[in-house]
Amino acid sequence: MIIKSIELIDFRNIENEKIEFKEGVNVIYGDNAQGKTNILEGIYLFARGKSFRASKDKELIKFGKNRAYSLLKYENNSGKGSLGVEISLNKPKSFYRNNIKASKTSEIIGEFRGVLFCPSHLGIISDSPSVRRSFLDVAISQLRPIYIKLLSKYNNYITNRNAVLKREDANEDKIRELMDIYSEELSLICAEISVIREEYIKKLDFWVKRFFEEMTDGKEIPEITYDANHSLNENATKEEIRQKYLNLYLENREREIKYGSTLYGIHKDDLKITVNGKEARLYASQGQQRSLALSMKMAEGEISREFTGEYPVFLLDDVLSELDEKRKNYVMSTIDKRQVIITTCEPSVFKSNNESFIKIKEGKRV
Ligand SMILES: Nc1ncnc2c1ncn2[C@@H]1O[C@H](COP(=O)(O)OP(=O)(O)O)[C@@H](O)[C@H]1O
Ligand SMILES: [Mg+2]
Repeated sequence: MIIKSIELIDFRNIENEKIEFKEGVNVIYGDNAQGKTNILEGIYLFARGKSFRASKDKELIKFGKNRAYSLLKYENNSGKGSLGVEISLNKPKSFYRNNIKASKTSEIIGEFRGVLFCPSHLGIISDSPSVRRSFLDVAISQLRPIYIKLLSKYNNYITNRNAVLKREDANEDKIRELMDIYSEELSLICAEISVIREEYIKKLDFWVKRFFEEMTDGKEIPEITYDANHSLNENATKEEIRQKYLNLYLENREREIKYGSTLYGIHKDDLKITVNGKEARLYASQGQQRSLALSMKMAEGEISREFTGEYPVFLLDDVLSELDEKRKNYVMSTIDKRQVIITTCEPSVFKSNNESFIKIKEGKRV
């Protein structure tokens, strides 16, 4: 799919700009702190349903204003479309699809599909498990509408269950019954999410092996497997996983009450990533970790294409300057046939004549 344009109004430091993009490589350049990443942030909002760097929506509103807008026009296999968002200081943000208001954020997720690659993503191998779970969640949500609904239901149950676990009377029969209901529901959602994650991770492993091999001339073999909190083997059925969680909740009731928190579930999952059988987090060099991270991003693009029949848009936020010549060339030669939007302070590294250039200064296109 491709983005035709993004229009931003009172969004971060951008007062009112419409930027058009071409197929192929689009380079957004300019000095530091001019608004380059703000543009990617305005685009990627539609892939995640929220900003990739602001913890509160209101941070996106231009200082001194009450509202911010972003409008994305795109074209995919099924035709042209638009996605809009209105962010207000004192009410929840509203998304629009083809000018019709969505009742929930989850309704628009998957409509625009993008792979975002930031310098911080280069640390995904050694970061905490939550970063790897978030990678999975963002990637899978764009492909499977049910997933984001399951996750949000799951998070609600966890919040409610934890509140019950913290109650003084958590051990009393009446309350235990309530907790049993939550445990039943949670086990089922855990099983559904685990099966979807397992399937995605198998595809991830396949593509990462391919990309990593190309990058490193095949001397080292990586492997990514699902380090699932249920710790059953990869062929476990949904029902077996559900039963396992149910048992974990039953057996650990006292401990969970003691900690006042749900100790088992898909919020404890991780990815196990190895190179030649050795855990990458502990033993891979920084260069290998970067190649793995890169491979995971490229794999995300391939899996999206497998699911939807078309490549997502690649958004590279100032990441090429972090890579050495060899990796940079590899990335560019692999993705330059898709739509790519790159931000950089150094436009001179792009030498071919195929790119389109967009210069940004103080929140304006110049
Ligand atoms: N809510 C906001 N209102 C106005 N300006 C903002 C807001 N949030 C961030 N900025 C400004 O945006 C600029 C940073 O933009 P950014 O896109 O991150 O820069 P870069 O071009 O380096 O990628 C800074 O000057 C910052 O002060
Ligand atoms: Mg930036």
